[in-house]
Amino acid sequence: MDCTEKFAKCTKTMEASAIREILKVVGQPGMRSLAGGMPAPESFPIDIIHKLNKVVIKKYGDSVFQYGITEGFDPLRAELSKHLRYRGIKAGPESVYISSGSQGSIDIVPKILIDEGDVVLVESPTYLAALKSFKSYGAKIVGIKADENGVIPEDLEKAVIRYKPKFTYLIPNFQNPTGATITLERRKKIAEIIKNHNHILLEDDPYHDLRYSGEHLPTIQSMAPKNTIYLGSFSKVFAPGLRLGYYIAPKEIASVMVSAKQAVDMFSSSYSQALACEYILGGYIEKQIRKNVALYKPRMQAMLQALDKYMPEGYSWTKPEGGMFVWATGPNDFDAKRLYPKAIKNKVAYVPGCFFYEKENMGKNTMRLNFSNVDEKTITEAIADLSKIL
Ligand SMILES: Cc1ncc(COP(=O)(O)O)c(C=O)c1O
Repeated sequence: MDCTEKFAKCTKTMEASAIREILKVVGQPGMRSLAGGMPAPESFPIDIIHKLNKVVIKKYGDSVFQYGITEGFDPLRAELSKHLRYRGIKAGPESVYISSGSQGSIDIVPKILIDEGDVVLVESPTYLAALKSFKSYGAKIVGIKADENGVIPEDLEKAVIRYKPKFTYLIPNFQNPTGATITLERRKKIAEIIKNHNHILLEDDPYHDLRYSGEHLPTIQSMAPKNTIYLGSFSKVFAPGLRLGYYIAPKEIASVMVSAKQAVDMFSSSYSQALACEYILGGYIEKQIRKNVALYKPRMQAMLQALDKYMPEGYSWTKPEGGMFVWATGPNDFDAKRLYPKAIKNKVAYVPGCFFYEKENMGKNTMRLNFSNVDEKTITEAIADLSKIL
């Protein structure tokens, strides 16, 4: 039997992605991988988790192994409601909802908002798994120009008027893949645009706390709460294996998201939620953020210094203030995908930037370089060798 005959139309958007093929080689012995997008395993707070395991079982007992409510574990919602105030987010516990990672919400938002052919605006380039999700629901993706200060508000407004999109997806801090952060001035403009045009913003902010220089900026949600679905995550400040994220959305949207989640996974891990609740309550989250910043900042600096020292003429790269990625752009005739096998032979892996664009044949001369999961020495050597190949 040919099973592929049975596939739904949307399955076409899920074809064995070329990027997965590319990343297969990353695990080879001796590979210096700047390709992944993962936190450093040594950042995981295993000692704290040991301690909190005992607290959780003692305090909550068998309830953390039971089915839970879709909206989320109430004590965690209450803690998050207080915790998120430093981001300018004013949401009572009843307005904070728990998801299975922020990816859980990224896939639920188009599920409830998109009909085949509806337009979604994204900054170009953007997070690959968001593109994949939006496309799987039949969305037509329109990319908006972005620079080192994030998406260009004037271009966004023109596109909102022209395409009448269902929503716009933005990553405000240390964007994946470029590392760009939307400036305060642009955030204010974006908030005005979405309010003036009755538009919805999906603000995906998993890297918020990984800031290594500059000032923390308020979320766009805090400037336009009635127009924003805000997504946060525990993956970069606790552990991605817990699969925990959260969202704050206008009431009507949140209640449909809850309803959709009932059909997807019913609720997010009760046990993880109880752990996360105690993690905030015990003040561990702030300590962990400081630890992660201390771990990643020198890695980012090592990457920027090595790029400065070794990269050939004609290449430029972003200088992020945080996050996990630097984005490099080569001369027009540079093809990052074509160079890849040679880089692999020399034990350096990266992600060709073309995968982060809404259309094929875009961004051929770009690449994403990750610095969170490799130590400084390896980063420096990998960039030196990559530069030689270039
Ligand atoms: C921009 C962006 N959004 C969402 C996610 C998914 O994060 P989570 O682990 O919370 O599902 C990632 C993961 O790398 C990401 O880069």
